[in-house]
Amino acid sequence: MDKFSAFLLPLLCFFLSLFLSDADFTGNLSDPGLTSSADSLCAQLIEPNGYFCSEHTVQTKDGYLLALQRVSSRSGDLRVQQGHPVLLQHGLFMAGDAWFLDSTEQSLGFILADQGFDVWVGNVRGTRWSHGHISLLDTDKEFWEWSWQELALYDLAEMLHYIYAVTSSKVFIVGHSQGTIMSLAALTQSDIVEMVEAAALLSPISYLEHVSAPLVLRMVALHLDQMVLALGLHQLNFRSDVLVNLVESLCDGQVDCTDFLSSITGKNCCFNITRMNFYLDYEPHPSSVKNLRHLFQMIRQGTFAQYDYGILKNLLTYGQFKPPAFDLNSIPKSLPLWMSYGGNDALADITDVQRTLEELSSKPELLYLENYGHIDFLLSIKANRDIYDHMIGFFRSLEKPSSY
Ligand SMILES: *[C@@H]1O[C@H](CO)[C@@H](O)[C@H](O)[C@H]1NC(C)=O
Ligand SMILES: *[C@@H]1O[C@H](CO)[C@@H](O)[C@H](O)[C@H]1NC(C)=O
Repeated sequence: MDKFSAFLLPLLCFFLSLFLSDADFTGNLSDPGLTSSADSLCAQLIEPNGYFCSEHTVQTKDGYLLALQRVSSRSGDLRVQQGHPVLLQHGLFMAGDAWFLDSTEQSLGFILADQGFDVWVGNVRGTRWSHGHISLLDTDKEFWEWSWQELALYDLAEMLHYIYAVTSSKVFIVGHSQGTIMSLAALTQSDIVEMVEAAALLSPISYLEHVSAPLVLRMVALHLDQMVLALGLHQLNFRSDVLVNLVESLCDGQVDCTDFLSSITGKNCCFNITRMNFYLDYEPHPSSVKNLRHLFQMIRQGTFAQYDYGILKNLLTYGQFKPPAFDLNSIPKSLPLWMSYGGNDALADITDVQRTLEELSSKPELLYLENYGHIDFLLSIKANRDIYDHMIGFFRSLEKPSSY
């Protein structure tokens, strides 16, 4: 079969399968762009657990208004004396809520705050926590004219600028999935990497050539990106009837949608299935069709490069026939990197992770978890001991004693 697989498809199918298997799901199509404080991430998920949380708005160079939350410990002392800033960068179809979905002992956002870190929560354009655009509406086609390339070079860059300016400190980045694509792309840029102290990557992805799940490969053969574009859609919102029906129709065929999760993300060892309805209160968040196409290009072409417009527009946009690659080798050798990857992760395939490692000039610290699938890195009920303790040890080893 062709290397014609989808990375997103898996996740979207995962969520759709959840919708489809949940007869009670009512689907709320209310607009993204929550602005009142009662609807904020701080108010909904973080403050109710006793954590101090403040909302910040960051404007990107191309006019998007992103929400950033700053979270600190429940303990009074740590609240005042904040530790090193950490930016949490979520993955595709997710937003900053992804780091707070389980208990305070299980979720990385809470754990880092309790450990005294100055936790900043990123939310990319298009997610329900972000605040839209200075002039475009989310009903405008142009609002959705971006892929992870802009998320890396504009959104992540601007969030780092903001944190760097407020804290006067270089920032630790934690990324998951698409958050690692964004991080690796951004770190190849010298003006961005100078604001970063170190990066910890969960399910690290730059190349997507070896996405392996059979169901993913089958679904990708259906060219979902083109199908969605043909429907005239530019926003990918899996809470919309159109998309739910589309995927439902795909499921009517040979694909057993009740079994999506493990056959798409890889077999997740340690997911709390009884919390599914709660997760669905928050996920999935919208993304753009152009982002889906960019990810499909990576899978088809085996590249880690900018968006491919086709020869003519590439020439006009980039001055060359092919889109410029992101050169992993240009990430400074001096930048400490830490990565955790899983033996059952069908999206961050081990072969692709190895290629990433070969192209980096540094040798990242690695944590391999044989039984972990893609979602476990975020939602495993024992990720705290399996992963987060090690990650925090990595950060601690880099902190200057004087910072406390
Ligand atoms: C959908 O959102 C609207 C507006 O925020 C709200 O009033 C309504 O209760 C929501 N419906 C469901 C089923 O969550
Ligand atoms: C799984 O989720 C349920 C529902 O929220 C919760 O009661 C239970 O404690 C969770 N199990 C574990 C092991 O965290």
